[in-house]
Amino acid sequence: MLCACLAIAALAAAPGVAASPQAKARKVIIDTDPGTDDAIAILLALNSPELDVRALTVVPGNVTAAQGLQNALKLVSLANRCDVAVAGGAEHPLFQKLITAEFWHGKNGLANVELPAPKCKADTRFGPDLIIQMVHEAPHEITLVPIGPETNIALAVLKDPSIVPLVKEVIVMGGSISGGNVNAAAEANIYNDPEAAQIVFQAGWPVTMVGLDVGNETLFGRKHLAQLAKTHGPQNDFMVSVLDFLVKLSEKFGDTGSPMYDPLAVGEAIDSTLMKTQAMHVDVETRGEFSRGETVANRRNEIERNVLHGDRYIIEGVDHVKPNVEVCTSVEGERFIQLFISRIEGK
Ligand code: BDR
Ligand code: CA
Repeated sequence: MLCACLAIAALAAAPGVAASPQAKARKVIIDTDPGTDDAIAILLALNSPELDVRALTVVPGNVTAAQGLQNALKLVSLANRCDVAVAGGAEHPLFQKLITAEFWHGKNGLANVELPAPKCKADTRFGPDLIIQMVHEAPHEITLVPIGPETNIALAVLKDPSIVPLVKEVIVMGGSISGGNVNAAAEANIYNDPEAAQIVFQAGWPVTMVGLDVGNETLFGRKHLAQLAKTHGPQNDFMVSVLDFLVKLSEKFGDTGSPMYDPLAVGEAIDSTLMKTQAMHVDVETRGEFSRGETVANRRNEIERNVLHGDRYIIEGVDHVKPNVEVCTSVEGERFIQLFISRIEGK
């Protein structure tokens, strides 16, 4: 409660934020596999008065479940936010082996930067149960922001489908309508648990997909690093170290900056005017030989109606398919990066 009040007070005072007395911080639960860009997303959320971060639930992905929980606890400790519940969840994807990504995120998942031991303690609840409980306690108010594989969110829906109409929105970092980053077709969060992602996409709640298409338009580069390095503070300095690691990594692969994938999903929760969306019917491919984990988006929301006549099908018309996802199709990338920097500088 204290936290929500502080957030509302800060909202009125923050530069560039509409100071309406009715303004109310948006309640979010971030499901995360921290992870370098997860860490950036989490600190952005914790420093944004528009958001009331109720919990971090941890899912394995970039790192194991145990490492992810430690990292999440270190991050809330760094931000002095032990009021945020941090809970572990699934230990592995629904139907496949875990794939971890220390190759991209450093041995500890946090760019090899060693943060102090956490002073905040883990919540004893199982992540999906915590999600279920918080949604029932605040019906129609919670926005879920999954920025890792969708395992925990899928488990929550499977265990208690009655949460679906009670969730305000699900803002997913994952997927792509223009090719993958794991391979030609699939984005990592979806690839790492396609069945879970399909459950989340088809659940029937409002889903916004912040995919690679827009994440790739938010490259954090050297000039941004220099800008953030001008100011100091424990979170500011940690972010500079992590982003320095990421910028160097991007340069190694011939890019001019590091995509802010997970932070951008938080950006959507903070300010939905940053991006344009298009309603599409999206399915997750769970079987394809080359395309398992692809988000297959129907931009026209139409399918041919093929009817069997004897030994062949005849196209008899075109049917409408209901869109289930608002797909982010463009973003004001530099405006978002400046929003991020303004929230972290000096912290
Ligand atoms: C996603 O994969 C992870 O490695 C990142 O943290 C992000 O959530 C991008 O494909
Ligand atoms: Ca992530």
